[in-house]
Amino acid sequence: MAQVLLAILIASLLAVAHSSIPSACFNLQPFYIELSSKVPPMLQKIQETRVPNKGEYLDVGRTAGIDLQTLEQLRNQWLHEFNWETEQAYLNMFKHFTAEIEGLTIHFIHEKSGYPDAIPLILNHGWPGSFLEFLPIAKNLTERTNASNGRAVSYDVIIPSIPGFGFSSMPPANWTTVDTARIYSILMTKVLGYDTFAVHGTDWGSSISYILYDAYNATARAAHFSFLPLFALTPSQLLDINITLDTDLERFEGERYVEWSNTGEGFFAEQSTKPNTLGFALQDHPMGQLAWIGEKLIDWSDPRAGTAPSVLTTNEILRSVSLYYLTGTFTSSLYIYHQNPHGFGTEYIKARTDAPMLFSAFKYNVAFWPQKLVAKVGNLVYYRNHDFGGHFSGVDNPPALLQDLREIGAYFK
Ligand SMILES: *[C@@H]1O[C@H](CO)[C@@H](O)[C@H](O)[C@H]1NC(C)=O
Ligand SMILES: *[C@@H]1O[C@H](CO)[C@@H](O)[C@H](O)[C@H]1NC(C)=O
Ligand SMILES: *[C@@H]1O[C@H](CO)[C@@H](O)[C@H](O)[C@H]1NC(C)=O
Ligand SMILES: *[C@@H]1O[C@H](CO)[C@@H](O)[C@H](O)[C@H]1NC(C)=O
Ligand SMILES: *[C@@H]1O[C@H](CO)[C@@H](O)[C@H](O)[C@H]1NC(C)=O
Repeated sequence: MAQVLLAILIASLLAVAHSSIPSACFNLQPFYIELSSKVPPMLQKIQETRVPNKGEYLDVGRTAGIDLQTLEQLRNQWLHEFNWETEQAYLNMFKHFTAEIEGLTIHFIHEKSGYPDAIPLILNHGWPGSFLEFLPIAKNLTERTNASNGRAVSYDVIIPSIPGFGFSSMPPANWTTVDTARIYSILMTKVLGYDTFAVHGTDWGSSISYILYDAYNATARAAHFSFLPLFALTPSQLLDINITLDTDLERFEGERYVEWSNTGEGFFAEQSTKPNTLGFALQDHPMGQLAWIGEKLIDWSDPRAGTAPSVLTTNEILRSVSLYYLTGTFTSSLYIYHQNPHGFGTEYIKARTDAPMLFSAFKYNVAFWPQKLVAKVGNLVYYRNHDFGGHFSGVDNPPALLQDLREIGAYFK
């Protein structure tokens, strides 16, 4: 009898210990980036790559893809100026961790504000993005400032790498953004112990964030988007539902979306249908990855990229491509397209939540959602349209994204 009681006592003590140290079963570990040994062979390949000679290609500028002059300039910079050691030292100044969730290793940055009322905020990147996209604002978000209504606001910032990207493990074949949302919910509530949190998403990250906003409405208590997991509408489709584009900026954005749909979406079909062919072709080809990824980073951004307030410099492009190449995740990052054939929807219906939603549009983003359209899918409380920046707003216009994210603090309950 006494033994049984003792066993029960021990079991319940263990249970208590377990819930008060929730991360114990997730193997939460600090993480440091160490890819230095892979850099010399990468540079060797960059050096040896033969690009087309004159007479082997048509010099038509950017109309048929990335132009060769840009590619060659980037190569020179990669070989002679870019320094991975400097980048790595900088990246390791952030607090990285890994945790095991449902058999996957999930890498994430976790920067805490130190204020007891800080709002936990998870920032979700897409393709060809990565956790790098949010570094220009990661520490700033932890600082205490005021939202426009005067409420004090600071954040605990969580930036995970999507399964298949960066230092997170590759997901199984049947993995979808619904699964990623579920394990991110576990990351926020069980691994890190937050009761409620806010989400931000762009590109595929907007799919993950929207699922959290819609299906985890007790814990995901605010959402900010700079993209939606829904196909945007052309100006004429918008007219059909009585939404007009009223300013020069909006008309520009509407036309840019039409243009991008016609000339910029080939990659989407290829990555959705034949990711392995593309992956095997470029997995061990840094210059090939630079051409494929670099074209998107350039074309989807503001043409003023690299000049203030943009920090999307050529060095940033090389850092992004280096991360894909050195982590060997080019192929695995493509699967998100293959695994989510319906990841971008067409039905604009309201999320099942009363939590506030905020949205930021950027002039050179590849798709545009006017305010009235965004309002159909959530409890829209804040909408801004910026005339500078593009698809990667964390690097393309960090001050604007920072300011808009701080507005979550005006509404978060
Ligand atoms: C925030 O607002 C409070 C009260 O209105 C003010 O005292 C404080 O200086 C403001 N802080 C910042 C960083 O603006
Ligand atoms: C998905 O794949 C994993 C591992 O390959 C397997 O354990 C799991 O049962 C599969 N899930 C579904 C819904 O098919
Ligand atoms: C658009 O407005 C017209 C005229 O007011 C109205 O007849 C039509 O039903 C509206 N269409 C939609 C989709 O709201
Ligand atoms: C949260 O989602 C559940 C299930 O979809 C729904 O029944 C409930 O009304 C939602 N809560 C709010 C506040 O919308
Ligand atoms: C973020 O903080 C750094 C360091 O204080 C500062 O240099 C930078 O301008 C800030 N970024 C933004 C977007 O405000």
